[in-house]
Amino acid sequence: MGTKDLHIKPFDLGTLTKLEIFEKYTQAWIPVFAIAKGGNIFIVDFFAGTGYDLNGVPGSPIRILTKILEFSELLLKYRTKVHLHLNEYKKNKSNTLIKVCSEFIEKHPILRQVLEIEYTSLDFEESFRKEYPLIKSLPALVFLDQNGVKFLNSTYLNALESTKTTDFLYFVSTSFLKRFCETPEFKKLGYDLEVILKNPYRFIHQSLLDIIRAWLPTSTNLKLYPFTIKKPSGIYGLVFGASHPAAVIKFLKIGWEQNTMNGSANFDIEDDLKKGQMNFFEPTKLTKIEHFQEELKREVLSGKVLSNHSAFFYTLDRGHIPSHAKVVLENLKKAKLIDYSGNSPLITYEKVCKEKIWKEYILLKPNK
Ligand SMILES: C[S@@+](CC[C@H](N)C(=O)[O-])C[C@H]1O[C@@H](n2cnc3c(N)ncnc32)[C@H](O)[C@@H]1O
Repeated sequence: MGTKDLHIKPFDLGTLTKLEIFEKYTQAWIPVFAIAKGGNIFIVDFFAGTGYDLNGVPGSPIRILTKILEFSELLLKYRTKVHLHLNEYKKNKSNTLIKVCSEFIEKHPILRQVLEIEYTSLDFEESFRKEYPLIKSLPALVFLDQNGVKFLNSTYLNALESTKTTDFLYFVSTSFLKRFCETPEFKKLGYDLEVILKNPYRFIHQSLLDIIRAWLPTSTNLKLYPFTIKKPSGIYGLVFGASHPAAVIKFLKIGWEQNTMNGSANFDIEDDLKKGQMNFFEPTKLTKIEHFQEELKREVLSGKVLSNHSAFFYTLDRGHIPSHAKVVLENLKKAKLIDYSGNSPLITYEKVCKEKIWKEYILLKPNK
């Protein structure tokens, strides 16, 4: 497995997509926990790098600091402290990291009141052992921006699974799985290569998710979602993990903002653009969103999904956002195939999970 030094050159477009998603998720995550009065929250970046790329574009640690700064008034108001631990294995990089982060904090003194920062320069395995008690005891946001795939294995995944208030974002060089699948080092990781190789190459990151989901205990509440990042050098991707639906929906919204066509890749992974083109010789193919909407319609009309509660979780489980489902339910009502009280099918996180206003959908004409 080769590794390369990211910071002696500018970040590429794929890396910027990854960093944008890290940043947007941090922005969504901090305020949720900031307002838990008088609390402590934990962010750990195990593979922090040097802070900036060659052109001064911020990497993950500076982006995290920027978001903490954005919410510093709120954190102060609720007396919430962010414990930020940054690990970078290579000593020279770690020294640069300490320097640039200290400069950032100097420039924004309010950070001193809301932030406790700690730097380490440890190998990941040792760093994970050190940080695990805090991950377990505090609401935690964990970044695992490795080179390669090595640390996405069942040991770490299950350790994260067993902590109930952790959200994590792994970065994986997924195409390494195909390139190096015959090496003994890879065989040790326990990936089922049949699953990896059975689908077209562009789906390799989604296949990886099928494999790692099978590593989790059957009783798990942890949900895993992929975001595939194609670069000229291969297929990479993010694995997002969280147990709470509020976290899941935040991540899915970020994915669907990033790519309004498929919500799960930085390219047209489902060939949706071609599906929109007329072809007299083939039946029209459904886009990813249309396919989901057709399936949801079938589930409702067959009586399997008959409430806002079940429609909401059906939608999240398939990696879609409630707005994709809402239009289906509204159209079914307009067509007098289902009915529900009021104008809205109430398929939102606020109604279903927070206010717990559960609404039934009544089937008027089953199985149409
Ligand atoms: C993909 S880069 C991280 C980039 C960083 N998140 C950023 O946004 O700039 C991976 C980093 O992990 C470090 N690294 C490599 N092997 C490691 C190990 N065994 N444990 C911890 N860090 C390691 C590398 O030096 C490199 O800086």
